[in-house]
Amino acid sequence: MQKNNIQKSKTQVTKTLNPNIKLSNSQRAELLNDALNWRYAVREFDQQQVPNEIVDQLVNATSLTASSYGLQPYKILVIKSKPARYSLLEHSMGQDKVSNCSHLIVLAAKTNVSEQLVIDYVEKFSTTRNVPLSKLHGMTEHFKGALSNMNEAAKLQWAQQQVYIALGNLLTSAALLEIDACPMGGFDTAGFDEVLKLTEQNLTATVICPIGYRSPYDQEANAAKVRFPQEQLVAVL
Ligand SMILES: Cc1cc2nc3c(=O)[nH]c(=O)nc-3n(C[C@H](O)[C@H](O)[C@H](O)COP(=O)(O)O)c2cc1C
Repeated sequence: MQKNNIQKSKTQVTKTLNPNIKLSNSQRAELLNDALNWRYAVREFDQQQVPNEIVDQLVNATSLTASSYGLQPYKILVIKSKPARYSLLEHSMGQDKVSNCSHLIVLAAKTNVSEQLVIDYVEKFSTTRNVPLSKLHGMTEHFKGALSNMNEAAKLQWAQQQVYIALGNLLTSAALLEIDACPMGGFDTAGFDEVLKLTEQNLTATVICPIGYRSPYDQEANAAKVRFPQEQLVAVL
């Protein structure tokens, strides 16, 4: 009975992709596949700079990443400064793409996930969707409850998991924008945190990603993708 009442009060809403972008489903699939096969973890960048507006588009796409409860427990740092990148090179296990790329993106997880993050989020939700805070009490308590079930180590692990979702989205978005990238876990966290003064901002570098344009001499570019076969990787139940 109650279920019926809920259904009756629903208004039907349909959100569609922009109808001015006239691509068939197969064209969309082709575009996506092409971008994903074109991308690879670039080992050698050339000196060309990615224009600012394209970096902005990439950062915007990354900031649209889904996150648990929507709390986005991280910060996206775009390091343009060459001297800063040379300082980071010392902590990058000799991977000079950190300084040779166009921009270095550092995804840093929050180390101080607390009820304040929920309060900030709920305030943002209230103003964005024009819902009075008084109506968001249940949501607030639910989110606070979820965080209170985690100890500090679990909260950091949760925040870092969200960072990796952002990294995945960053890589796909970069490919669709025809920007090259190399996801990197091979760096010294403590060194990065010190150079970028992250500890005092309650952040820790979790994964980094140089972006730019591939060097025509990068031998990896034409190497075949190494992936387990679908039968091994995918199960359809
Ligand atoms: C979390 C993560 C960390 C990685 N760390 C490094 C790294 O430190 N240096 C590097 O050259 N490549 C790194 N890679 C790139 C992987 O080696 C590469 O993505 C993988 O071999 C698949 O190849 P593809 O991306 O070219 O398709 C990393 C990738 C991921 C997702």
